[in-house]
Amino acid sequence: MVHAHSIPQADLTHAVAQGLANDPKRLPSWMLYDENGDRLFQEIMKLPEYYPTRCEFEILKTHSRDLARYFNEGRTPFTLIELGAGDGTKTELLIDPLLKSRSNFTYTPVDVSRNVLEALGTRLRKKYPDLNVDALNTTYHEAVRMLPDNRKKVLLFLGANIGNMPVPEAGQFVHDIARQMKRRDVMLIGFDLKKDPRIVQRAYDDASGVTRAFNLNLLTRLNAELGAEFDIALFDHCPDYNPESGTAASYLVSLKDQDVLIRGLGKTFHFSQWETIHTEISQKYDLLMIERMLTSAGFEISDLFFDTNHYFCDVVAMKQ
Ligand code: AVJ
Repeated sequence: MVHAHSIPQADLTHAVAQGLANDPKRLPSWMLYDENGDRLFQEIMKLPEYYPTRCEFEILKTHSRDLARYFNEGRTPFTLIELGAGDGTKTELLIDPLLKSRSNFTYTPVDVSRNVLEALGTRLRKKYPDLNVDALNTTYHEAVRMLPDNRKKVLLFLGANIGNMPVPEAGQFVHDIARQMKRRDVMLIGFDLKKDPRIVQRAYDDASGVTRAFNLNLLTRLNAELGAEFDIALFDHCPDYNPESGTAASYLVSLKDQDVLIRGLGKTFHFSQWETIHTEISQKYDLLMIERMLTSAGFEISDLFFDTNHYFCDVVAMKQ
């Protein structure tokens, strides 16, 4: 059975007003995922340059039975929570062996996008009629605050979604998760690893321009939902990767000096030529950073799984 709860979430109007008043201008990355953004991200995952999805798929496929064993340790009934569930393709790799081993669990996918959760619900109902699904339509932070505290928890945070947060914020978030967990609760978390900088650069600057369209779509969304008057042709997408910090960052760049009216805010914003709007970061990690973050939050690393190229890493972390 599929239940869905929708929690009033991060308000677009407020977030845009705040982000564009900031110097330098920035907009939060959750804003990229409207219906068009969801579709463009699906396209990104199929790009030859965008390796993370394929790498993690390989890891989960290869080790799904080991992972199910970790989750079902002690055969205690549990809630399987997935932050940023997406279309569930990867999750099915984990659900299959759990059902085969007759684990007793409820699946709680969390996603900011309603569309994504509806598609996921339809798909799961068809494939696993007996699976209990209790979906949550909200942000990660809100979901973590709401986690039920009576049952064992297994939390999935896959796809390098944690990479959207700057390292200190990611550390704080993992702390917040740990605080909601009991001893021996489990988290499976995916990190994109530092690698040849050119490979990372290409992943966020693909030849066919899908990532560019994905970032520019943010302005199209503001035009549609906030009555903004962005001329998309007067902005460009500029990705950047710093191999020292491991931070890939994306910016929209104003191609000329311009004023843009946002009717929904009753305000005009000025953009100087070459002024940027920061839209997203995708943090890459090394093993030392991962170990530091998880252990200082109160987790013990039970296992680490890599793809054959060692581009990506999924960590089984157990609350101490
Ligand atoms: C969904 C946050 C993991 O950062 O790699 C892909 C989003 N942005 N290409 C990432 C994204 C541009 C993706 N995450």
